Amino acid sequence: MPDHAQLWAVHMPYPANGARSSPDRWPDRWTDYLAQDEVARAQRYRCAEDRARFITARLALRGLLARYLGASPQSIDFSYNAFGKPLLPAAPLEFNLAHSGSYAVIAVTQSHHIGIDIECHRDLPDRDDVAAQIFSADERRSYDQLPESARLSAFYRAWTCKEAVVKALGRGLQFPVQSCVVALESDKPARLIRLGEDSVAAQHWRLHEFSVAPGYSGCVAVAGAGDSFRWPGLNWITLVDLFRGLPPSQDGARLEA
Ligand SMILES: CC(C)(COP(=O)(O)OP(=O)(O)OC[C@H]1O[C@@H](n2cnc3c(N)ncnc32)[C@H](O)[C@@H]1OP(=O)(O)O)[C@@H](O)C(=O)NCCC(=O)NCCS
Repeated sequence: MPDHAQLWAVHMPYPANGARSSPDRWPDRWTDYLAQDEVARAQRYRCAEDRARFITARLALRGLLARYLGASPQSIDFSYNAFGKPLLPAAPLEFNLAHSGSYAVIAVTQSHHIGIDIECHRDLPDRDDVAAQIFSADERRSYDQLPESARLSAFYRAWTCKEAVVKALGRGLQFPVQSCVVALESDKPARLIRLGEDSVAAQHWRLHEFSVAPGYSGCVAVAGAGDSFRWPGLNWITLVDLFRGLPPSQDGARLEA
């Protein structure tokens, strides 16, 4: 694979209002493709929609990685770092997953730590308080100068860029996101300018923003990449395509998405 990342997106049309108009299309019955710990996690979701989204995203991740590795989805054996980041230490692939609202996104590359984030723009009542916690002083000043109408998307743009970086580091929100500083001029691509105290290392990060749909922000971050690192467009996948040709799960059900 040349020096680039591949980005994949899955639509997860599970309504948030609990209306299960077509239950056969929900993925709950295809957990045979998942590992035991994933099934246990799925069962802990009280909300059926959240469970369906978790299962769909994991099925997509397994199906996709299986294609890269020429393996079966069930044989993918994730390990996890101390902060919960799924990894495949023995495989020549770096990947990361994020989900929000009706979409899951997956980024895959070689030889670079990679993180991805996507957020559905929700109008949080305490958004300005959250901004105060996650923005650096400079970011906060720029945010405060924006008209109210521009703040929602600016907030999620900054949030997804920062979270993609801390997910690439594998630390997640255990990393002090305030010290992960991004330049977010409206007419320029996002850029990492400081990571902790280190502004030199920050120059070797590449950020790439993408959009799955209006009302969503998304960003992928890659560590240690040169200027020639390339970002092809978003590829849309369905579970049906990913699992086509594979044996049906034990109860004979086939995947629908
Ligand atoms: C990882 C984290 C940033 C996810 O944020 P989020 O907005 O809720 O979720 P996202 O959709 O962006 O990403 C979730 C996915 O990221 C991946 N992920 C989990 N932990 C990760 C980490 N530390 N770094 C990178 N990716 C991680 C997983 O694939 C997860 O999806 P899945 O569990 O459904 O497969 C956040 O949950 C976090 O910081 N967790 C750290 C928890 C921790 O440190 N725990 C201590 C040990 S128990």
